[in-house]
Order: sequence, then structure tokens, then C-alpha cells
Amino acid sequence: MKLPLILSIPLAALIYSNVMAHGDVTPQAMDVSDLPALGEEWLEENPWRDPEGENWLKGVRLGDSGYNQNCARCHGLGGVSGGLAPDLRLLSADADGDEWYLERFRNGMTQNGITKMPGFEGILTQEAAWAIRTYLETRPADDAFKEHDGRLHAIRDELKKISEAIAAGGKPEDFTEAVAGMKKEMDEINAAVKTASKAPRAESSVSRAAAALDGTPESFNKATEMLTIGLSATE
Ligand code: HEC
Repeated sequence: MKLPLILSIPLAALIYSNVMAHGDVTPQAMDVSDLPALGEEWLEENPWRDPEGENWLKGVRLGDSGYNQNCARCHGLGGVSGGLAPDLRLLSADADGDEWYLERFRNGMTQNGITKMPGFEGILTQEAAWAIRTYLETRPADDAFKEHDGRLHAIRDELKKISEAIAAGGKPEDFTEAVAGMKKEMDEINAAVKTASKAPRAESSVSRAAAALDGTPESFNKATEMLTIGLSATE
């Protein structure tokens, strides 16, 4: 049976414009000057995988913006695939995963003359490649925070109340202990969640909110916002 004309034209136009949109987008340069230079030769393994290493968090943070600017339009925001391209959180955090990651990162993928993914070699640096990799492998697995959802909402609400109390003239010192307790609890929750890649430690809006809490009233607001965004997102 033929598709009614009225249906088939918009469908074809949609598929076409989708393909064009992918080909057209300009890659976004990444400033990786915060990370050590890795040289010309491509490494075989992610040099920033160790969560105790001093470059781990830098890699995650730079990789976050690099990924979301260059890869997310196909692979999904935050690494959560919408089905257009594979879910990159699932690539195992080991040498095998790295080998496959680099193969696609450097060369992209062309099938029957159609570029399904552009190669990024010569466009993004090796440092950018590993930063993005570090970000992806530390993404929490699907539903990782589900069982902590109630508690995290409660912490968020508590932080919000404290911010409001301070705005209304309360002394920040009065809340130091309570906030330190919540910071510790968020770190513990984050440490307990799993990554889909089997990387040893997840990095998430929960660990970010905990890290943001530095005792200043502004940081209570910031952490509240980070938690709110994180709790409404898929992670
Ligand atoms: C234009 C869309 C598009 C963009 C942009 C894109 N990719 Fe891809 N990527 C794909 C598609 C489609 C595949 C599946 C190719 C195949 O069939 O093997 C893929 C596959 C991959 C794979 C292999 C995954 C697996 O499980 O087999 C990796 C790794 C990868 N991409 C990394 C990246 C990174 C990192 C970026 C950003 C720097 C990126 N991609 C940008 C479309 C894209």
C-alpha cells in the first residue's frame, strides 16, 4: 500500500532535514589548557580514569561541556541516548572500551557514502577526547538515584529553607553543622551509586551540589539549584 501523499512528503522532508542538520553543525572548540598536554601520539587508555588523580574532576567538567556541545545532538543530552545514536555511558571503562571509543572518535562512521558520525581527529584534541571520555564513563547509571530520591528532595528543601532563613536575617553560622551533615550525606549517596560503564566513581549533580557547599550563604542557593535541576533530569 502506498502512503497517502500528504503523509509521505512531510516525513521525507523531516528525515532529510535531520540528516542535513547533523552534517552542518560546526564543532565547538574546547579549551583544555587546564589539563596536562598529552602530546601527538594517541594514548591507548584514558589517562584520567583514576578518581583519586588530580585531573579526574577537571576531565569530567571539561568533558561535560565538550560532550554536550559536540556529541549530545546525536548521542543525547547528559549521555542519555534518545535512540538516534548509541548510549555512550555503556562503553566499559577499561582498555577495550577505550579502544572502541577512540576508533569512533577519531574516524567517525560512514556507511554507504553517508556520514553517520563525523570523525573528530584534527578537530578536537586528544585532551578533549579523553576529557569527554572521562565525563561519559562517570555518568550515573539509569535510575541510579531512584532509591535516594525522597531523601535528596528532603535535603534540597532543607537547604532552601536555610537560604530563606539567612535571607531573612538568620546567622549563617547557626546552620554550619546542619549543612556539613547534608554535604556529607550527599557525598555518601553519590559514592554508593553505580556508573553504567563500571567506572569506580560517579560524578553527578549530587556530588556537584555537595562540592559547591563551601559554607557561604550563596553556596546554599547554588547547591539547591543544582539539586533541583539534577532531581528533575533523568539521572
Ligand atoms: C551526527 C551525529 C553524531 C555526532 C555529532 C556524534 N556521533 Fe558518535 N555516533 C553516531 C552514530 C550514528 C553512531 C553509531 C555508528 C555505528 O553504527 O557504529 C555513533 C557511534 C559512536 C561511538 C561508538 C559507540 C558504540 O557503542 O558502538 C562512539 C564512542 C561515539 N559515537 C562517540 C562520539 C563522541 C565522543 C562524539 C562527540 C565528540 C560523537 N560521537 C558525536 C553519531 C554521532
